[in-house]
Amino acid sequence: MWNSPKVGILGGGQLGRMLVESANRLNIQANVLDVENSPAKQISAHDGHVTGSFKERESVRKLAESCDVITAEIEHVDTYALEEVASKVRVEPSWQAIRTIQNKFNQKEHLRKYGIPMADHRELQNNTPEELAQIGEQLGYPMMLKSKTMAYDGRGNFRVNSKADIPEALEALKDRPLYAEKWAYFKMELAVMVIKTKDDVLSYPTVETVQEDSICKTVYAPARNVPDAINQKAQALARKAVSAFEGKGAFGVEMFLLEDNSLMLCELASRIHNSGHWTMEGCALSQFDSHIRAILDLPIPPKSLELLQPSIMLNIIGGATPDSHLKATEAALSIPNATIHLYSKGAAKPGRKMGHVTVTAATMHEAETMIQPLIDVVDEMRA
Ligand code: ADP
Ligand code: MG
Ligand code: NA
Repeated sequence: MWNSPKVGILGGGQLGRMLVESANRLNIQANVLDVENSPAKQISAHDGHVTGSFKERESVRKLAESCDVITAEIEHVDTYALEEVASKVRVEPSWQAIRTIQNKFNQKEHLRKYGIPMADHRELQNNTPEELAQIGEQLGYPMMLKSKTMAYDGRGNFRVNSKADIPEALEALKDRPLYAEKWAYFKMELAVMVIKTKDDVLSYPTVETVQEDSICKTVYAPARNVPDAINQKAQALARKAVSAFEGKGAFGVEMFLLEDNSLMLCELASRIHNSGHWTMEGCALSQFDSHIRAILDLPIPPKSLELLQPSIMLNIIGGATPDSHLKATEAALSIPNATIHLYSKGAAKPGRKMGHVTVTAATMHEAETMIQPLIDVVDEMRA
């Protein structure tokens, strides 16, 4: 093994844990910044980890001292800390990219300059009912009220069906910086994982994502009944959007496929992403492998990002009871061709991502048939 640089990871949740899995297979030391015994640290026994938070300046400084490259499993990090340490350690992707992307309104304003199609949206200045009612006149109903910051898994979105919903919407998202978005009448949600390397922008095949209560439930790779032309067009749009940002690594790009087969960007993330978990079994290099290679300037043969077999990923999410994820796991053990990934997060809460299962098969139809009993179990245990 070559004398490999050390990687620092802001965040030790499930995404950090799967990054560490990839680093481990290459004998690359990954130093994780998060609380003690976080999921990523549990599978990595060395004394290079840092106890603290990716939102604290001092902890990020400490991590930077022991690493050659710093990356993040989450975009909600202290980018001012990253800006400071960037003079001593490489930060991938760039702190500028993370700062712009973590504010979804700024992200969209930035992407607009690059001609990326998006739903029309309006910024709120003072979060009053009068202001939102005026925006409602412009965008029409329903519209989606969204938090600019700290938004994930739908926690930051409120569907406003009519003017009558405005007080409830503003109450639900109070004290947050807001914008409102025109409703997107999509027939399908698509996603593409993009890998930005030192001199290339690569993409994985286009997948179909299914959200339930705004949380990703299943991912189908490739997207079902989507012609190759749209698959290629979505990949091109995703690469174009990611090219608008500086730095190396994986980016997750979410899109809407509209009735007329045109595409719109929903949002993008400057990190490995739930819509790319299927690549662990579906491709020769997973999104986590590719991210590690990209930030360390290691080769990524484009062929290794091609789909090997149709794959379906199902999230195991905390349900009605604290043990519902265990029941889902138990059921998954008997599903043919299923690979189970549990994140070791401890107690389940409704909506918390506890693990995922990927089923691969020679055809999408076969994969659908095999995973259906598990989907039925998961549906029964919904919170
Ligand atoms: P996050 O994933 O960070 O919570 P998103 O903007 O991706 O935020 O919204 C979550 C989900 O809400 C999307 O995957 C989509 O299903 C739905 N959604 C978001 N924006 C719109 C919109 N403008 N019109 C219709 N549905 C939307
Ligand atoms: Mg999203
Ligand atoms: Na997987």
